[in-house]
Amino acid sequence: MKTLVLANQKGGVGKSAVATLLAHHLRRLGQRVLAIDLDHQANFSQALTRSGRAVVAEVTADRLLAQAGVGVPDAPFVLVSGHRELLALERQAAQHNAYARNVRAFLAAVDGVFDVAIVDTNPNPDIRVIAALASADFVVSPVQLNQEAMSGVNMLLNHERVGIRRIKAVLNPKLQLVGLLPTMVEPTPFQKANYVQVVQAFHPILIRVGDGPGAFAAIPRRSCIAEAQASGEVLWEMKKTAAREASAEIRPTLDAIAARVMGAAIQPAEGAPHAAAA
Ligand SMILES: Nc1ncnc2c1ncn2[C@@H]1O[C@H](COP(=O)(O)OP(=O)(O)O)[C@@H](O)[C@H]1O
Ligand SMILES: [Mg+2]
Repeated sequence: MKTLVLANQKGGVGKSAVATLLAHHLRRLGQRVLAIDLDHQANFSQALTRSGRAVVAEVTADRLLAQAGVGVPDAPFVLVSGHRELLALERQAAQHNAYARNVRAFLAAVDGVFDVAIVDTNPNPDIRVIAALASADFVVSPVQLNQEAMSGVNMLLNHERVGIRRIKAVLNPKLQLVGLLPTMVEPTPFQKANYVQVVQAFHPILIRVGDGPGAFAAIPRRSCIAEAQASGEVLWEMKKTAAREASAEIRPTLDAIAARVMGAAIQPAEGAPHAAAA
């Protein structure tokens, strides 16, 4: 099982929406998916619960940290939901090592049951994010192309507690940054200017979707993506043309992330057009 964490120390950048799209995408590719929501606001949980696709585990995500030996159903798509109790964990500083150990032991215990675990996180850099990153294989960082994006990226990499460099050096050398994922991208001149800046500064850590210049993964701002997130519908199964167009637009991005995380476990159908809607 591969574990992918969505992380960025900012709220409202599209983490939960990307987590939801990736979970449905990896199911579409036939992968057994374990979705874990470490955010007490539970937006990821809500979208997946409303989709009706995932078996909702009885245990909630706070238990994965606070308790040893918890189990989840054996099914191809399982959700461990976010819960208010997640907020209380940061205050139990004496337990933090145990929390990180419990998460690691839990992921090891379900290793043969799922192909991939997708972990959505809260924005505050606390023990939940540390425990997730300390046991993950991969991290994707959704970023919004606004004025703060640059300083946010710096924090993501270099934050003294949850920065990826520190986590890799101290807690988890196997952790790999898949890359930054610009989200809610709009074709405004302001965002274009920011995008050029981000590409110039960070192109080594953007996610490639092809060989051409500027062929980087991104998620555009589309009202149907917000709608799918709110209703629980799977974007590429929605009837409207706008949803089909958005699905085709983001397909290369979802494929690139899936390929990086799953490696040889995903065999793209021969000759399958990259941008084909499901
Ligand atoms: N690509 C997108 N296009 C339009 N709306 C989006 C997109 N991604 C996210 N949203 C909406 O923006 C809001 C914040 O996104 P969310 O994924 O919850 O961010 P985060 O998890 O980082 O806090 C939500 O209402 C969500 O539906
Ligand atoms: Mg969220």
